Amino acid sequence: MNKSSITLKGLVLGAVMALSGGLSTAPASAAVVGVEPELQSWTFAGIFGKYDSNQLQRGFQVFQEVCASCHGARLMSFRNLSEEGGPLFSEDQVKALAAEYIIMDPELVEGERAATPADGWPNPFETERDARGSNSGAFPPDFSVLAKARGVSQKFPFWAFNYFTGYQEGGPDYIYNLLVNYVDAPHDVEVPEGQSWNAYLGGTLAMGPPLFEGIVDYEGDVFPETVEQYSADIAAFMMWMAEPHLASRKEMGFRTITFLLLLAGMMYLVKRKIWSNVEH
Ligand code: HEC
Repeated sequence: MNKSSITLKGLVLGAVMALSGGLSTAPASAAVVGVEPELQSWTFAGIFGKYDSNQLQRGFQVFQEVCASCHGARLMSFRNLSEEGGPLFSEDQVKALAAEYIIMDPELVEGERAATPADGWPNPFETERDARGSNSGAFPPDFSVLAKARGVSQKFPFWAFNYFTGYQEGGPDYIYNLLVNYVDAPHDVEVPEGQSWNAYLGGTLAMGPPLFEGIVDYEGDVFPETVEQYSADIAAFMMWMAEPHLASRKEMGFRTITFLLLLAGMMYLVKRKIWSNVEH
């Protein structure tokens, strides 16, 4: 290979890398060195993808019964749970749900009141110190946008294809794979006190395995009460929390592209018409 072709290759690679850094829809993620992630087929993937409200309801149940004792969701209000495109609980269900929670309100004589649908999701801990104190010094991150702050890391050239396939489910895929990969640590690894081994991370973290078979009781027996099913449902719910308007955003994108294609076609015809009488 001669010198100039090396330079050209370097230039192209450099440009691709710069573009990927600037435009990537996949969020930067921690370097994952563990087992290869198993990518799931999400209902909200692809141009016409939409959330499955039943799955979001199950995911909310997992959140409420398991994760919410440690993780907050400060950008979510109770009433979001009944909005279009979300879990679609009825307004009465949301009212009843909110009334189960207490909001601290220093302006009231009693200092507290029952929550209403307009209230934000209450934090499980009053301060970050309390949260760390209960979790061997680690802070359980807020769920509101966590699904957008994580992603599976893919080897070159796979991430380059993502521009064309529209893959944007790195967050939920990361969460799913994290949750299903709590296994015994390899023999040569010593896991420190308060930490748990996770095969997907290929390392330890300060969250023990939160899910076990049967821990959440789903209504009816259509959906298996397995760690895999719970993990998929909570991951979908977290994606909705982080990006509640996904479907309308995709629809808008599709309309815009269709419009631009039609416009391009029309401009081509106009150009042909204008130039049709000109000798060339
Ligand atoms: C007993 C408290 C507790 C419960 C219950 C819990 N977590 Fe966590 N979680 C933590 C802590 C602490 C961390 C921070 C771990 C660290 O930084 O090492 C964490 C971190 C995470 C992370 C981020 C990992 C990363 O990439 O940094 C995710 C995702 C997560 N939890 C999801 C869940 C889900 C989903 C549930 C419910 C099924 C759940 N957690 C239940 C305490 C908890």
